[in-house]
Amino acid sequence: MTIHPPERIWWKPISGAERVYISAALLFSLVTFFLMPVWHFLGAQNPTMQTYRVDKAEYLQKVMAWADKYKVGEQAGVPVVEPPPGADVYLLARTFQWYPVLKLKAGQTYRVHVSSSDLVHGLSFQPLNMNFMVLPGYEYILYVTPTQKGEFGIVCNEFCGLGHHLMVGKLIVE
Ligand code: CUA
Repeated sequence: MTIHPPERIWWKPISGAERVYISAALLFSLVTFFLMPVWHFLGAQNPTMQTYRVDKAEYLQKVMAWADKYKVGEQAGVPVVEPPPGADVYLLARTFQWYPVLKLKAGQTYRVHVSSSDLVHGLSFQPLNMNFMVLPGYEYILYVTPTQKGEFGIVCNEFCGLGHHLMVGKLIVE
């Protein structure tokens, strides 16, 4: 018995159908690739780029004082805070909680400050498609205009530890 080496050209030339779907896939990936920079300008989904350095403990104190000032109730031990329409709003991310519960008015634009007092968390209003990374030591400014009334969940979308899945807050829009 002899051992035959493999044929030198073992592949088959691509068929017509194969040519079509490879071209379609290539075209699709190129279109989506170039849409990324285009969407940066057209998508209107960019953050404000207003960020300040802040001391973690200082931010915590600021949120607590603000929450005490505008507190209108309490839900599961977390204060419900209703700031004046159009005012500054403070939101704190910490293991494993969003503090406080926010109560805002539809149609008003709020200047939302957000920071973390410990680890990196991710701010996501549900069920909206909005994600924002929250780093400790930085105070981010986001302009938020609620357009829809109802109750929205605030979840953490950055894995931050064993209680990550429990980190659920609330936004009430009236
Ligand atoms: Cu905070 Cu995950």
